[in-house]
Amino acid sequence: MQADSDLEGLRKEVGNCKRCSLWKNRKNVVFGEGPENASIFLIGLGPGRNENLFGKPFIGAAGKFLNHLLALAGLSRKEVYITSVMKCYLPKNKATKEQINACKRYLDRQLEIIKPSIIIPLGNVALQYVSEKFNVGFDRISKIHGKLFNAKASWGEIKIIPMYHPAAALRNGALRKTLEKDWKKLRSVVLK
Ligand code: URA
Repeated sequence: MQADSDLEGLRKEVGNCKRCSLWKNRKNVVFGEGPENASIFLIGLGPGRNENLFGKPFIGAAGKFLNHLLALAGLSRKEVYITSVMKCYLPKNKATKEQINACKRYLDRQLEIIKPSIIIPLGNVALQYVSEKFNVGFDRISKIHGKLFNAKASWGEIKIIPMYHPAAALRNGALRKTLEKDWKKLRSVVLK
C-alpha cells in the first residue's frame, strides 16, 4: 500500500518534469507498469511513438516481441515491472548523457520503492545505468547477454541478467534466435 502511494506520487512528479527539453515532445510520460511488489524488473531505453501516444511501455513492435520473450521464460506482463531509463518520447530513439542524467533519478526511485530481486537491463543504455548504479563492471553486451550477475542493492542481494533490447532483433534478424535462447534459459532462474 505504502509502495503503491509512493509510486503514484512519483508518477505525478514525473508527469510534471521539465528537467530536460524532451518534455516538449511528449504527449504522455511513460512511467512504467507492473505490480508494486514485482520481483522481476525490466529496464528499456525509452518510449517510442506508440508508447508516447498511449503512455504505456513497450506496446509497439518491440513490445510484441518482448511479450513473446516473456512467454518463453514462463512469464507474463502482469507479473513483471517494465519501465525504461527515459520517461519521455525519444524521437530518434537516442538520449544524450545530460538527458539520461536528468531522468535517471526517477528510475533510481522506482527501483528503491519496488525492491526487485531480479533486474533485466534491455540493451546498452540500460546496461550502463545498472552498471553504475550497482557498481558492477560488465563486458560488452555481445559477450554477457543472458548471463547472471550477482550484485548488492540497498535493499539486499539482487541478480542482474543483461539482455539484448528486443528492438535489436527487429533490426537484425539473426539476433532473434539468440534472444529466444537467452529468455528460455531465464525460465529456470525465475522458477527458483
Ligand atoms: N523501447 C523502450 O526501450 N522502451 C519502451 O517503452 C518502448 C520501446
